[in-house]
Order: sequence, then C-alpha cells, then structure tokens
Amino acid sequence: MTGSRSALVVLTGAGVSADSGVATFRGGGGLWEGHHVEDVATPLAWARDPKLVWRFYQLRRRALGNVEPNAAHRALAELERELSLGGIPFTLVTQNVDDLHERAGSSPLHMHGELVQLRCERCGAIVRELEHLAPDAFLPCASCGHARVRPDIVWFGEMPYFMDRIERALCTCTHFVSIGTSGVVYPAAGFLSLARQAGARTYVNSLEAPDNLEPRDTFRAGRAIDVVPALSAELLGELLGES
Ligand code: APR
Repeated sequence: MTGSRSALVVLTGAGVSADSGVATFRGGGGLWEGHHVEDVATPLAWARDPKLVWRFYQLRRRALGNVEPNAAHRALAELERELSLGGIPFTLVTQNVDDLHERAGSSPLHMHGELVQLRCERCGAIVRELEHLAPDAFLPCASCGHARVRPDIVWFGEMPYFMDRIERALCTCTHFVSIGTSGVVYPAAGFLSLARQAGARTYVNSLEAPDNLEPRDTFRAGRAIDVVPALSAELLGELLGES
C-alpha cells in the first residue's frame, strides 16, 4: 500500500460488448437493431411514440439474458480488484447501457444510463428488478403515481450522468484507456483529450482508429477480447511499479 499518485481511468464503448454479441451503434449501416437512433434514443421520440421506445428498450433489456461478459470485461474486473489491493484509484466509465461489466465483477459509472433500470420522469424514483416486466405494458410510478416511468437511458440532447466525478478523475489520472468507442459522441469523445491535457499516458483499443485518436496515444487495433487482457496486465505492472 502506498499513497501513490498513480491513477487509472478506463472508458468503454459498444466495442467492449461486441464480442459478447451486443450490437454496436454505428455497425449496422447507421441503424441500431434496425432503428434510426432519432426514432428511439431522443426525448422527442419518447414524447411522439412512447410505445415504440418502451418496447425497444425492454426488448434490449430482455436480450441481456442471452449474452455473457467476455474476456475483456473479466480482465477489467480483475484489474479493478488488483489496483484496489494496491491502493491505486481506478475509475471505470462506460457508455454502454448493458450490465456486462457488473456481471464480470466491476463497478462502472454508467454515464449513459442502464437498461436494467427505469426512472420516473416526474419524481425521479428509480425502479429495478424488472425481470417480469412485459415489453408492451407501461409501468406506473409506485412512488408518485405518474402514469409511466421511462427507461433510465441518457438520450441524445440529455446530460450524461456522473460528469463531475468523471472530470475530477480525468484531471488527476496518470493513465487513461479508451476501449471500443468510435470517439464521435461527446462528451465521452472528449475524455481522451482531457486525459492528455492532464499529462496521462493514453491507450486506445478499437477495431479501427477512432476519430479522436492522436499520434501520442498508444493505439492497439483489434478485438477487445484479444487486446484488453494483455493491455490490462501491462498496465497493472506499470501502475504497481510506479506506485
Ligand atoms: N473490439 C474492440 N472494438 C470494437 C469491436 C471489438 N470486438 N467491435 C467494434 N469495435 C469498435 C468499432 O471499431 C468502433 O470504434 O467499437 C466502436 C463502436 O463504436 P459505436 O458503435 O459508435 O459505439 P460507441 O462509441 O460506444 O457509441 C457511443 O453513441 O449512440 C450513442 O449513446 C450511444 O453510448 C453510445 C454512444
């Protein structure tokens, strides 16, 4: 144990779950599971066609029952455990709304919300334990009686969660890793640059170079299941060695 100044932030995107069989956003000819994002992932879509939006997210949630965490999720969970034993701060931020990081043993900050959770748009009450929820029936809010709770998903045009905490972690990190994200959706796409400004060593894994990559980033092209286990072991050695 040390009072180390080393600290790691990891940002994951759809690519980390792709090898588990969860569809990425920009991989299906611009469609997400057959839908244009503006038809399912905006407050306007929810106001215009709540049945469609509700069904879409409840089916996505149900589909989580058919997928499992992969070697990349597991390697990040192991890294979290090892760093915690070494007293080194670790922040895992995910843009993903699936629960695969948790099921591998991690404690991520879900900046874009979670499929396994609903939120009352009137009183803010959170609802979990949705296993028996029907994809076609709205759920009224048990706390305030509002006619329907909404998916707890951050839609386009809404403010992502945990931004204060994430920015604080980015400003003080010595190492930053971006995994499986195309680097086009802000504010997450700006984290790499914030980490560089903080002087962190920056590592990027994706199938192809993301939009926000710069020459000083260490880029590892390839599938997350192939790249992340070795990268995690390397980082663990570096971080423990420096602490
Ligand atoms: N391993 C590593 N990277 C992969 C893999 C894989 N097996 N498969 C795909 N990728 C990479 C792609 O090369 C791409 O760079 O993952 C990235 C996926 O990009 P997007 O589909 O754009 O997903 P993401 O960046 O997470 O999207 C950001 O956009 O629609 C919104 O809110 C939604 O959180 C989402 C945000």
